[in-house]
Amino acid sequence: GERSELLEIGPEALFWRVIVTTLEEQDRAPCLVILQDLTEMHRLQTMRQQFLGNVSHELRTPLASLKALVETMRDAAAGDPEASQHFLDLAEREVDSLTQVVQESLELSRIESGRLPLRLAPTPVAEVILPVVERLGPQAERAGLEVSCSLPDGLPQVLADPERVRQVVSNLLHNAIKFTPSGGRVQISAQQVGDEVVISVTDTGVGIPREDLPRVFERFYRADQARSKGGTGLGLAIAKHIIQGHGGRVWADSLEGQGSDFSFSLPLGN
Ligand SMILES: Nc1ncnc2c1ncn2[C@@H]1O[C@H](COP(=O)(O)OP(=O)(O)OP(=O)(O)O)[C@@H](O)[C@H]1O
Ligand SMILES: [Mg+2]
Repeated sequence: GERSELLEIGPEALFWRVIVTTLEEQDRAPCLVILQDLTEMHRLQTMRQQFLGNVSHELRTPLASLKALVETMRDAAAGDPEASQHFLDLAEREVDSLTQVVQESLELSRIESGRLPLRLAPTPVAEVILPVVERLGPQAERAGLEVSCSLPDGLPQVLADPERVRQVVSNLLHNAIKFTPSGGRVQISAQQVGDEVVISVTDTGVGIPREDLPRVFERFYRADQARSKGGTGLGLAIAKHIIQGHGGRVWADSLEGQGSDFSFSLPLGN
């Protein structure tokens, strides 16, 4: 006969299938034992379930507010154009936030499944930094922040998909602006370290509690004080995937109340 069993082993969450088949129908017959390591498959399956759970959760909050807003407009605000206008504005904001969750989730799943191939080319570092600084400059100014940028002369080119890396820089800079109170500073710098270029975004903002630091690159992770700032908590998860796709690393340092430093590395372009 044949018996098959699924085993979950130890804290490393190994997941094995064990199949035992006796080769002859007699006592003490030789048997065939097959061990299948399904750990990776199991991990992916769990990740998919968590992802779906997270997305649904993130969709529920704006949907519930939309529902409440629509009900209020129908019941209380009917015939009151000023109140209706106000509720419509609020509703529009919820729709925007729903759209962002859906767009970023799609993007993350495309990147993860390899359906978003990188177009790597030797790229000057300035090309992935300056356009982003220019684009977010007005927003930083409105927030009362001073943004500075230091790129040393003679910095070598990096091997990068410029569009994707600009997206990473854009999220890091946007975060720095979002989490730094008025009067603060945000600095972007780049330097060659061995056979890589390291790009850093440093701010003098609210910082991240030490115990939260390892979690900021997880999808949908937001520190408590971030809940009110808008955002889905996918930006850094996407950034991590993009940089790892380039063969680079991404990391964060922070002191609560003092500021944060987000850095990533890219291989040289030659
Ligand atoms: N520069 C920073 N200073 C302080 N906290 C930060 C900083 N950057 C990120 N964080 C924390 O890490 C969390 C995750 O950041 P991430 O960019 O992934 O999400 P988000 O900015 O909240 O949303 P999204 O980028 O999807 O719009 C933030 O919500 C915040 O709690
Ligand atoms: Mg972000």
